[in-house]
Amino acid sequence: MTTIAIHNGRVIDPALGRDSIADVVIVDGRVARVGPNEGDMVVEAERIDATGLVVAPGFVDLHVHLREPGFEYKETIATGTLAAARGGFTTVCAMPNTMPPLDSRAAVESVLREAEASAHVRVLPIGCITHGRAGKELAPAGELAGAGVVALSDDGDAVADPSLMRHALEYSTRFGLPIAQHCEDPRLVGDGQMHEGWVATRLGLRGRPASAEETMVARDIALAELTGAHLHICHISTAGSVALVRAARERGTHVTAEVTPHHLTLTHEEVAFGRDYRQLLYDTNAKVNPPLREESDIEALVAALRDGVIDAIATDHAPHATMDKDIEFDLASPGISGLETAFGLSMRLVHSGDIDLAALIERLTAGPVRAWGLDRGRGLEGLGTLAPGAVGDVTLLDPDAEWVVEPSGFASSGKNTPLAGTTLRGRVAATVYGGAIVYQTERAAAL
Ligand code: DOR
Repeated sequence: MTTIAIHNGRVIDPALGRDSIADVVIVDGRVARVGPNEGDMVVEAERIDATGLVVAPGFVDLHVHLREPGFEYKETIATGTLAAARGGFTTVCAMPNTMPPLDSRAAVESVLREAEASAHVRVLPIGCITHGRAGKELAPAGELAGAGVVALSDDGDAVADPSLMRHALEYSTRFGLPIAQHCEDPRLVGDGQMHEGWVATRLGLRGRPASAEETMVARDIALAELTGAHLHICHISTAGSVALVRAARERGTHVTAEVTPHHLTLTHEEVAFGRDYRQLLYDTNAKVNPPLREESDIEALVAALRDGVIDAIATDHAPHATMDKDIEFDLASPGISGLETAFGLSMRLVHSGDIDLAALIERLTAGPVRAWGLDRGRGLEGLGTLAPGAVGDVTLLDPDAEWVVEPSGFASSGKNTPLAGTTLRGRVAATVYGGAIVYQTERAAAL
């Protein structure tokens, strides 16, 4: 019997409405007891002193690119999941834009096998909506469901054909899988490189308009209403999209949504200026799809996150190699390596008073689990909570610790972040996955 006791932390478990000083005891990989001095009751245990720290359920990320198989020079399941552990994430849903793409049982099983061998946290694969992500014909959803995928997505690209999208949604209802759509209409995007606005004009770069996202969100909500299917909006980024999702939820449509830490905190100005308005950066590390938007979009996203219209914070961790980023802006790959900065960056919203800490933790734990029903039928009962019997996934947080982002120190092979040199306030102190410590700093000392 292996026991781990986390002593004297402020336990915030939003799903159970708990916010109090307590010990968390995990026995054989599952939460056994949570309560004052419970750790003192167990005789033999590995012990962590969480005094002054917040103790939360392990974070769950609905949107991560692990790149394996096919793009191991950008990231592997081993490096990506180590980055996840450092970011406080104990469950990551892996996007299928690998090579080969995850559009068959064999491909999904190969990822699960590799995860079994080398992952530091739980990997839940996502299958493709269409064969080869080519947007022409549906991938075998039943086969993919049988192989264990938790959702279907062609992320990186939208399913542009509305008829195909209708059929994908119809078909998904048989297997109870969400269709996670990357909402950007390729015809409106064209070869746009960043948000269409004054910064793009200033830089002389072609833009991707907000309407490229909003028309597809509107279309897909209509199709979700037609089919009764579960539509999930990936990385929602505009105020207009938020208004559409809000109205659809009020009508009872089954639509869920996630937002990234970067869309919640950074604007299109990041591409040009970073933190210094005397220069024009053309920072490819701030190039991401959908693009960083405007202050008014951030306001709408934060409000929707606060009131639950947006269910989850998801990183869209998109690691790229230096040779994918240190090139001309229009040739550079889009994406931000986000797992290791997610908590610190999101904490800006807490420090500014825009959202309270318990709500932020909810959107990183129970929120994503509920959005996709991840705790149903997979042996993951209680995922996203610290309920007795739940998997022993715990994240220890130091909400006020300041640190400077230094990408060369990332566990991720993707050093691509616009936050290099930025001071963040809020840090993961330790991560426990399935009752084993997978990340620990000096702040969360052994007792
Ligand atoms: O910026 C992005 N990068 N957006 C996506 O949707 C895909 C991702 C990637 O795979 O690099």
